[in-house]
Amino acid sequence: MPNQNPLFIPGPTNIPDRLRHAMNVQTQDHRAPDFVKTFAPVLEKTKTVFATRDGQIITFPASGTGGWEACITNTLSPGDTVLVARYGMFSHRWIDMCQRHGLDVQIIECPWGSGAPADKFEEALKADTDHKIKAVLVTHNETATGVKSDIAAVRGAMDAASHPAMLFVDCVSSLGSMEFQFDNWGVDIAVSGSQKGFMLATGMAILCVSPKALAAIETATLPRTFFDFRDMMKANASGGFPYTPPLNLIYGMAEALK
Ligand SMILES: Cc1ncc(COP(=O)(O)O)c(C=O)c1O
Repeated sequence: MPNQNPLFIPGPTNIPDRLRHAMNVQTQDHRAPDFVKTFAPVLEKTKTVFATRDGQIITFPASGTGGWEACITNTLSPGDTVLVARYGMFSHRWIDMCQRHGLDVQIIECPWGSGAPADKFEEALKADTDHKIKAVLVTHNETATGVKSDIAAVRGAMDAASHPAMLFVDCVSSLGSMEFQFDNWGVDIAVSGSQKGFMLATGMAILCVSPKALAAIETATLPRTFFDFRDMMKANASGGFPYTPPLNLIYGMAEALK
């Protein structure tokens, strides 16, 4: 990769020339057939990266933080309880976002540098006999500490407690770089971004949403407009976008997926 900065961070990554060139496209009419031809296969192929059959891929022009917001606002209502462990900067920031949205955040404090404590999740879920907890939030790879959490173990804890909460996973810095198994791990929403494992420019939040999380939209009342899953899915179904799409990133995604 010639012309690279000496950038040695977990992301944003250096962009391989092949992907930089793929993003170098002239503006197009995003309501024309050419856009549809590029975009629809991108959504379909992205499913293989998440390892999902029934998950719905939803993208937004945003960074990973926007993906977090899309995840919680489409599925939860003010006052809903969520269970989260804090073990690094990104789990901390997702907690802060949930609190600012008026959610009741049940926090398990962990030493920074540790991972998601499946045993403590199981304890908390077993104690929640009224099923007030609507979602468990886990950061897969805590980028700042470099510690990966065991998502299958978290799913195991939820199943052991026979708890119906949804499982939301931040895979911003893991997807495409570490094993990720959306279906096998029973994930309900996975949130990623374009600038890490996909090695593209920043600016696209990439989510995978389970049928169960899609059903939660019907009763979720947190306000959402730009990040409304339903608006995006409705437009995507006819090959379009509800507003101006990040065209260059979509072309980059098409190449990255190869
Ligand atoms: C694990 C993780 N979650 C969330 C984010 C936030 O994503 P963004 O900076 O794209 O908004 C990052 C960014 O580095 C991250 O590494």
